[in-house]
Amino acid sequence: MNLMSAKTIIVANWKMNPNTFQEAGALFEATKKAAEKAPNVSVIIAPPAIYLRDLAVRYKGKRISFAVQNAHYEEEGAFTGEISFAQAHDARATYALVGHSERRAAGETNYETGKKVAAALSNKLIPILCVGESQRAKNGEHFSVVKEQLRAGLQDVPPAKITRVIIGYEPVWAIGGETTMSPRDMHEMAIFIRKTIVEIYGDVGHSVKILYGASVGEKNALAMLSEAPVRGFIVGHVSVDAERFTALIKSLATL
Ligand code: PGA
Repeated sequence: MNLMSAKTIIVANWKMNPNTFQEAGALFEATKKAAEKAPNVSVIIAPPAIYLRDLAVRYKGKRISFAVQNAHYEEEGAFTGEISFAQAHDARATYALVGHSERRAAGETNYETGKKVAAALSNKLIPILCVGESQRAKNGEHFSVVKEQLRAGLQDVPPAKITRVIIGYEPVWAIGGETTMSPRDMHEMAIFIRKTIVEIYGDVGHSVKILYGASVGEKNALAMLSEAPVRGFIVGHVSVDAERFTALIKSLATL
């Protein structure tokens, strides 16, 4: 494992925030400062698409990468209101969130996430395929939900490309709060995700990175990272609070 691949990955999923480009610029500056002090953390900012190019063009460093939050799987055409993965790549995104639960809640199907993962890859983007159950059932049904999301999301990914895909596990019921799911439960889920990918792809599946997302903040990230086999986080509301996000990065800087 080289040093680059050992970095902790933090995706700052800004969602539909902030309201103005000026505020986005200030948040970006604060994030950049924090990232520069934490060389072992790799920060990926997923801003609203309308800010993506301006932020990326203005940034000359190497500590921060950019992600698009969503895009359409078609290459081009009559899709009013949509953007393509090619356009996101041209705007300097290197990653793409795919299948975030808020997209799924707005109607995105497993089939569409599969198309999007493939379209991201063919446009030189690294897809972060988000999976996660809406609720936990005593009978363990959440495992079959996640398995189905993985199978469908990876349906068009050939073995040669599977290590270019990152899996983001986000238990939907835990999103938006202050408490993560327990590291122990994440441990169990990470093993299940790994097993599912290895079943499809064989041993190469062991190299696929798994991130955790849902209520990650400066008080709980370190515990999750040390107790569960995850390579990093997808961070929502805390990523748009400059003070808290700085504290979060700092909490991981000494790892
Ligand atoms: P949260 O969001 O950190 O606000 O829970 C995470 C996400 O939805 O990606």
